[in-house]
Amino acid sequence: MPKLLAFAGSTRRHSYNQAILDVAVQGAQEAGAEVTMVSLADYAMPIFNEDDEAEQGIPANAQAFKELLIKHDGFLIASPEYNSSYPALLKNALDWASRQTGDETMMQAYKGKVAGIMASSAGSIGGLRVLVVLRMLLENMGVIVAPNQKAIAKVSGLLDDNHKVSDEKTIKQLKGLGRDTAMLCQKVCN
Ligand SMILES: Cc1cc2nc3c(=O)[nH]c(=O)nc-3n(C[C@H](O)[C@H](O)[C@H](O)COP(=O)(O)O)c2cc1C
Repeated sequence: MPKLLAFAGSTRRHSYNQAILDVAVQGAQEAGAEVTMVSLADYAMPIFNEDDEAEQGIPANAQAFKELLIKHDGFLIASPEYNSSYPALLKNALDWASRQTGDETMMQAYKGKVAGIMASSAGSIGGLRVLVVLRMLLENMGVIVAPNQKAIAKVSGLLDDNHKVSDEKTIKQLKGLGRDTAMLCQKVCN
């Protein structure tokens, strides 16, 4: 049974990306994955600076987040698109987790892991452009990114009053992404 870590690149209250992630998580769980959901709000960390790292080491929250990545087989990541790319919140957390400490092997948080990626936006392309750069970033760090990905456009019209995804077609697509990620991880994760 693969163990997946799920997190969104937004800590906004009523985040669209948290809403779509919740559905993909259900799909992964229905396919038999064990999923841990975390919020980056609980792992607040400073913007990476190599001098600070040399003087003070890796901050406790960054190390804790990295250890979470290390102990999971794969990830489900939902990201907003900021100016056609990833938000600093997400990139900063991923950068910190790429730093090697103690007995860790290089890029231990990433190498050989599987990720399912998704985006959403009120706009008409749903954050498709962030998926291009997020895929490249993760693959460059050694992650196998599932071929299936989802960019949910005009997402504000697909939610109910509780900010949950209510559109059946979207739920099916997102659950499918969660399922595909779990199944890929089942095949390739150690
Ligand atoms: C700095 C900034 C840049 C943005 N750039 C884009 C963009 O390039 N494409 C897009 O679809 N939405 C863009 N947006 C709008 C976001 O999609 C929107 O804020 C969305 O709600 C963020 O996701 P969340 O609901 O998960 O927080 C931008 C928002 C901000 C704050």
